[in-house]
Amino acid sequence: MDGKRMGLILSFSFSFSLSAVAFAIASGSAAYPSGFDFDSGLCGTTVEGGSAGGRRIMDISHAIKEDMPSWDSADGLGSFLWLALSMRNGSLANNSVMKLPTHTGTHVDSPAHVFQEYHDAGYDVDTLDLHTLNGPALLVDVPRDKNITAMVMESLSIPKGVKRVLFRTLNTDRNLMLKREFDTSYVGFMKDGAQWLVDNTDIKLVGIDYLSVAAFDDLIPSHLVLLKSKDIILVEGLKLDNVKPGIYSLHCLHLRLIGAEGSPIRCILIE
Ligand SMILES: *[C@@H]1O[C@H](CO)[C@@H](O)[C@H](O)[C@H]1NC(C)=O
Ligand SMILES: *[C@@H]1O[C@H](CO)[C@@H](O)[C@H](O)[C@H]1NC(C)=O
Ligand SMILES: *[C@@H]1O[C@H](CO)[C@@H](O)[C@H](O)[C@H]1NC(C)=O
Repeated sequence: MDGKRMGLILSFSFSFSLSAVAFAIASGSAAYPSGFDFDSGLCGTTVEGGSAGGRRIMDISHAIKEDMPSWDSADGLGSFLWLALSMRNGSLANNSVMKLPTHTGTHVDSPAHVFQEYHDAGYDVDTLDLHTLNGPALLVDVPRDKNITAMVMESLSIPKGVKRVLFRTLNTDRNLMLKREFDTSYVGFMKDGAQWLVDNTDIKLVGIDYLSVAAFDDLIPSHLVLLKSKDIILVEGLKLDNVKPGIYSLHCLHLRLIGAEGSPIRCILIE
């Protein structure tokens, strides 16, 4: 959700170094230790279908673009990127500026999102625990005919000890993240489902496939239940099509936006 429309502006500076680097390194140097195998693939991570040491990498973040859905907007995100300095106009390099609601696309919520006292105490996205955002995760398919209630949570039989769960729902089947117009009929947690999760599981990362983990009808109550302990991190707007249910290695990194209660986040799954 995006109550405050806090914008973020980043400007990118590019500097290109055209020196090709040859990895024929056996002896090391004063600048780095010797003995690395640069061909193992562990450095050469590419997206979607790429590999990391032979394992498949799946990008589960949505591309940020003008016609993607945005909270409460009928027209989508709209224009967010400007070429502030351009080579065509005589600059040495092209430099873009962007302005985005912090809860755009695939994004994370901090506890300050719905708690004034957590905002006042500084629980911005820079306080989120990278250990929670990175580690083994379970992708589950949620029954398509209901929102995520306590009964639905119970039926999923998520084992104790599982810390990160990505909930794939009807939202993925309906391609809601590919539709410009914001749709309040998305599937999310009802308050009793959120409470069941807090009371009966060890889940510390909740991922979902539309802009809010909370169903529209229980928007604030579900957020309050999930964020109250400050130990649970909500990752919203994930791209979960073309991924099989099961266990993966999840890697999510957001931006260190000081003072922001949300941030775009890049998430990948490694098989
Ligand atoms: C730089 O910006 C110009 C527009 O001024 C654009 O036509 C060109 O493709 C850009 N070049 C690069 C390398 O991005
Ligand atoms: C280049 O400058 C012209 C004239 O100031 C302006 O209309 C145009 O938008 C600029 N283009 C870019 C890509 O910066
Ligand atoms: C989920 O809840 C929303 C309201 O928050 C409702 O519009 C939608 O129909 C519900 N979806 C299902 C599958 O029950």
